Amino acid sequence: MKVGDVVAGRYELGEVLGIGGMASVYRAHDRVLERDVALKVLDERLGQDPEYVERFRREARAIARLTHPNIVTVIDRGDADGRQFIVFEHVRGTNLKQLLARRGRLPVTQALALAHQAARGLGFAHENGIVHRDVKPQNVLVNPDGVAKVTDFGIARSHGAVDEALTMPGTILGTGDYLSPEQAVGQPADERSDQYSLGTLLFELLNGEPPYRGNTLVAVAARHVNDPVPSVREHRPDVSPRVEALVHRAMAKRPEDRFPSMDALGAAIEAAMAEESAVRGHGEDDGATQILAPPRRTSGAERPRRRRQLPRTLLAGLGVLAAAALLVWALATERLVPTESGGGGGGRVRLAAVADYDPEGDEFEHRELLGSATDGDPATFWRTETYDGGLEAVGKEGVGIVVDARRRRELDELTVLTDTPGFAARVLAGNSPAGNFVDVSGEETVDEETTFDLEGGRYRYYVLWITDLDEVAHVNELRAS
Ligand SMILES: Nc1ncnc2c1ncn2[C@@H]1O[C@H](COP(=O)(O)OP(=O)(O)O)[C@@H](O)[C@H]1O
Ligand SMILES: [Mg+2]
Repeated sequence: MKVGDVVAGRYELGEVLGIGGMASVYRAHDRVLERDVALKVLDERLGQDPEYVERFRREARAIARLTHPNIVTVIDRGDADGRQFIVFEHVRGTNLKQLLARRGRLPVTQALALAHQAARGLGFAHENGIVHRDVKPQNVLVNPDGVAKVTDFGIARSHGAVDEALTMPGTILGTGDYLSPEQAVGQPADERSDQYSLGTLLFELLNGEPPYRGNTLVAVAARHVNDPVPSVREHRPDVSPRVEALVHRAMAKRPEDRFPSMDALGAAIEAAMAEESAVRGHGEDDGATQILAPPRRTSGAERPRRRRQLPRTLLAGLGVLAAAALLVWALATERLVPTESGGGGGGRVRLAAVADYDPEGDEFEHRELLGSATDGDPATFWRTETYDGGLEAVGKEGVGIVVDARRRRELDELTVLTDTPGFAARVLAGNSPAGNFVDVSGEETVDEETTFDLEGGRYRYYVLWITDLDEVAHVNELRAS
């Protein structure tokens, strides 16, 4: 399926909104009702597996029963040429992970307002017997009015997310950042597991990054099981003791020490919101208005703090897993690359960002934001991690983003758009998304719009290789011809 295809005689595919481990989500135009929708298509390979097909159907059925302002509405489901799809209301805006990447940690009132809405949506699901099991910022969408809507139900990881993420063939390593301790040890998730994950999400909204970091999914999962919950107030003194206490209670290791229900957590957040507005006065932004303000340079107090407390060595095991994940990722996205418009040579070549490239690193460089570099929208961006003191401070030669030109071809030019001009970069190329790249351009300082002249042969994968930056570099758009 690709941009411009009409699915089920009705839904005209637009750009890709998101690519996950099991499915891709497109914006689509419904020709019958003449409105935009979001079309989620099950991965082609997983569509061969009856278990996944059944899961996907279960997701549609589960949410179809849930009509709530804080849950993304299901409109339709079906299959087209053997591909399973679900049609959702289209939520204009971003998911919370993108919002965090753009804005850094949020003002306390906004963070509470968003978590409160997510709690309401999840509480409603729980009342209807549905446990989400994968609550994380990527699965909470925010529309331009600041309304949060929970999506991506029905993954139904009843056998434990870690086991499954590690053993399920063809799975991209997921995130363990929001995993409850009970899920981490392979016990079944219940309503209280969603509460733990939502507590972790609120922690991140307030803190700018999740509570536990680690080199691997397993390392992070172990920290959820063993490590005490870090203090939010330590880095963020404007968080009240009351808010800190509720985050800690939601994140209690033992489910029985958490709030008795999602609604009880929602009520505690509401009480904290009332206290905040009493303390700060009613003129304060209530979290509903400035949410989608345009991106700005990360600077000043709201910049996310990165604490790089982990050894910088790339564990051998992770190296293998990372390379495998990158390859799987590349394969999964390959079919999504839209065909070029027009046929003639010398024209625009459609690129798809397929991987981040951080060969000397201990972490991925914002893989979840990759799509933003090739989505045709200069307002959204992929970004590097934040490097206080630049790359040299961590001894890295560079970090990069890999794009797929869909087949081997000799590109003439690669144009970069950025809203963080001033970083140095050059272009590399190769025929695997995971490495073995050669230089195909000279080094340049990237301005708001910079075009690299390329030479050196026919390659399928091209890397924008960033070699010098001031804290962070954004890649808003990559275009090739
Ligand atoms: N209804 C929607 N409207 C707008 N964007 C959406 C919608 N559903 C999903 N997305 C985007 O696509 C991403 C992946 O969707 P999701 O349902 O979570 O799929 P996956 O199961 O692959 O994680 C989301 O994080 C969001 O950015
Ligand atoms: Mg998701």
